[in-house]
Amino acid sequence: MQVSRTSARAGLGHAAVLVLALAFGLCACPENPPQTPSERVSRERPDLASLLDARTIPPRGTIKRTTILNTLADRYGYRSYLEIGQGRKEDNFAWVTCRKKVGVDPNKEVEAAFPVTSDEYFARHRDAFDLIFVDGLHLADQAERDILNALRVLNTGGTIVVHDCNPTTEEMQRVPWQGQHAWTGDVWKVWVKMRATRADLQMFVVDVDSGCGIIRRGRQRTMALPEELTYEAFAKNRRKWLNLLDVHEFLGALRRSR
Ligand SMILES: C[S@@+](CC[C@H](N)C(=O)[O-])C[C@H]1O[C@@H](n2cnc3c(N)ncnc32)[C@H](O)[C@@H]1O
Repeated sequence: MQVSRTSARAGLGHAAVLVLALAFGLCACPENPPQTPSERVSRERPDLASLLDARTIPPRGTIKRTTILNTLADRYGYRSYLEIGQGRKEDNFAWVTCRKKVGVDPNKEVEAAFPVTSDEYFARHRDAFDLIFVDGLHLADQAERDILNALRVLNTGGTIVVHDCNPTTEEMQRVPWQGQHAWTGDVWKVWVKMRATRADLQMFVVDVDSGCGIIRRGRQRTMALPEELTYEAFAKNRRKWLNLLDVHEFLGALRRSR
């Protein structure tokens, strides 16, 4: 019997694929089951996993932005993630459990997919995302542009998380950066402005990791725009201006939301 060249080549091709699959551990053998991104995080870094899985809620001081992002991804089944100001991947980006992840950061050392400023990125790209983390340049004007641009590319039902909305000292929010060890910049000012002007959004800040601001399309009762955006006034009114929630209140809000 003569074997045709095509089927012989196909046979060799299949054998090569099998060898490669075995070499790279792609077989679904019971000792090495395929993991979803969230299973991987739960196994390797349970401290960064969704709070919806947690048997007991860890103390507030140990909960980080990554946990908030993964809790949102888990609750709403998010698949795509954009991080503005990616920074070092191992600090947050690598642990976010969405399947498709895109980072933007002009610092070439951190090897973001888009090594440009957020303004340059948004000027050229219109891809939509389920979850967007705004953590780039922490100046109110820039944060405002980043949030407004993020709203333009946010999928229906999506969420924006804004880092560093809740400075706890006057020094840490002073701009420009003067070498402070802990620096939030004055992101809080754009947050307060939007709490006063955007009735079409739902906004609250989770009181962890210098304040993780959550924005979703929806409704909020807007507050009066404060005449003076000084840190002293902010410190007196922080709970109301930010709509500050503790972790239990955050989880309650997630359970109630659609
Ligand atoms: C606080 S770090 C981000 C850390 C990271 N998101 C995390 O959670 O670990 C801020 C990052 O924003 C980047 N950055 C500064 N200016 C930016 C801009 N205009 N657009 C985007 N990223 C910017 C910096 O290079 C820096 O890596």
